[in-house]
Amino acid sequence: MPPSQPIKAARGVRDVMPTERAVWEIAETAAREVARAYGYQEIQTPQIELAALIERGVGQDTDAGGKELYRLVKRGSEELVLRPEATAGVVRAYFQHGLNQGPQPARLFTMGAMFRYNAPQLGRYRQFHQLDVEAIGDASPAYDVECIEIALRWMGALGLRGLRLELNSIGDRKCRPAYIDKLVAYYRPLKDKLHPDCQRRLETNPLRLLDCKEEQCAPFKAGAPRITDNLCEECAAAFAAVKAMLDAAGFEYVLNPYLVRGLDYYTRTVFEILHEALGGAQNSLGGGGRYDGLAAEIGYGDTPAVGFAAGFERVVMMMAEEGEEVIPPPAALVLVVPDGPLFKEAAEVGRLARTTVPTAVDYSSRSLKAKMRAANRLGPRWVAILNADEAERRVVQLKEMAGGGQREVGWDELPALLEAELTG
Ligand code: HAM
Repeated sequence: MPPSQPIKAARGVRDVMPTERAVWEIAETAAREVARAYGYQEIQTPQIELAALIERGVGQDTDAGGKELYRLVKRGSEELVLRPEATAGVVRAYFQHGLNQGPQPARLFTMGAMFRYNAPQLGRYRQFHQLDVEAIGDASPAYDVECIEIALRWMGALGLRGLRLELNSIGDRKCRPAYIDKLVAYYRPLKDKLHPDCQRRLETNPLRLLDCKEEQCAPFKAGAPRITDNLCEECAAAFAAVKAMLDAAGFEYVLNPYLVRGLDYYTRTVFEILHEALGGAQNSLGGGGRYDGLAAEIGYGDTPAVGFAAGFERVVMMMAEEGEEVIPPPAALVLVVPDGPLFKEAAEVGRLARTTVPTAVDYSSRSLKAKMRAANRLGPRWVAILNADEAERRVVQLKEMAGGGQREVGWDELPALLEAELTG
C-alpha cells in the first residue's frame, strides 16, 4: 500500500461509534440483568484457544470451524486460533477449573468478540459479538426451555417484537446414525442433481443437507425422511417435554424439521430465534441447543449441557429497526472553558466539578469565542468559564447553555451546587 493511502478498517469488521455504543450498552446491561435473574454467573474466556479445542469441539465442515477459522501464525509449539464461538471455551473452562465438581448445572454466561472468516454482508461480519449462555452438567429438558426463555426475555426487554422461535430435535448418538443412513439412502440417487456443496455434504455432513438454501436442492427436501419421525424413545420424550413446557409457559414456536444448525456438537433440542425484519440469509438473531457430546469430543467425560448465543450486531440493528429511541448520554455535563492558557487552574476546576457530575476541560489554544462555538457543538448543560482574574479569585462564570443565565460561583461551592441543580 503506498504510504499516502489512508488506511481503513479491515474487511468485514465494524466500528461501533459513540452514538451506537450507547445502544450496545443498553443491550449489554439488559443481558447481564436477565442472565443474573436466572442465576447465571458471568465468565470470561480467552479470545484465543488451542486449535484442537475448536477443531474437535465445533467440527471441521461447519459454520465456525474448518475454512472459517482464523489461524494464528505459529509462535512456539502451540497451534492457536481466534475463537469462532464461545461454547467450546466455556466448557473447557468448566472442566479446567473444577466447576464439574461443584453444584450442577453450572450456569454461566459470557459476552465478547468472536471471529469467523466468512463473506461479509449486512448482519454478517468477520468479527462479531455474542451473548452466550450455557447450563452445563444437567440433562433435564427444562434447561433447554430455560435457555430459550432467557434469550426471548432478553430480546423482549430490548423492545424487539416480531420474533419467531423455531424448534427441532436432531436426536442423539443412539438414534441419529440410523436416521443419517436413511437420509443418505434418500439423497444418494439424487446426488447428480444437487448443488456441489450438497454433493460434498452428502459425504461429509449429511445432516446439513436439510438446511441447504440452494434452489436447485429445494424440490427434494419435502420427500426426505424427517428426523423427528426417527427419534429414539429418550429423545422423543425429551422433545415432548420441551414442547410441553413451552406450551405451559405460553411461548409460541414453529416446528422446523429442517433446522439442524451450523455446528457439529448438537444433540436433541435445537432452536433458533428469527426476526421477520432481518432479511436474507442472516435472519437469525440467536440460536442454540443441547450439546451432550461436546465435552467428550474435547477430552472430558460425557456431560449433558445446553445453551445459546445471540449476536449483538443483529440485535442492536433490530433495536434501531423497532424505533428504540436512545439518546446517548452527553459527553460531559460540564465543560470547563479557560480564557487563556490556564491549564492548572482549569484542571483543578475540572477535578472538583467531576466529583459530582461528568466534566470535560477544553485545553485547546483556541480563542474564547472559538471555544464557545465548540461547546455549542459538544452540548454540555453548563460551561464554567474562567479568566486569569477569576482564577486568582478561585471563581468561575457558570453558564447554563440552554438559554439560562450566568452566575459567579466559587470553585469550592461548585460540586454541591451542580449536584443540587442536577437532582433538584
Ligand atoms: P451460531 O448460530 O453460530 O451459534 O451463532 C449464534 C448467533 O451469533 C447467530 O444467531 C448470530 O446472531 C450471531 N452470529 C453468528 N455468526 C455471525 C457473523 N458472522 N456475524 C454476525 N453475527 C453472527 C453459536 O455460536 C453457538 N455457540 C451457540 C450455542 C451456545 N449453542 C449452545 N451454546
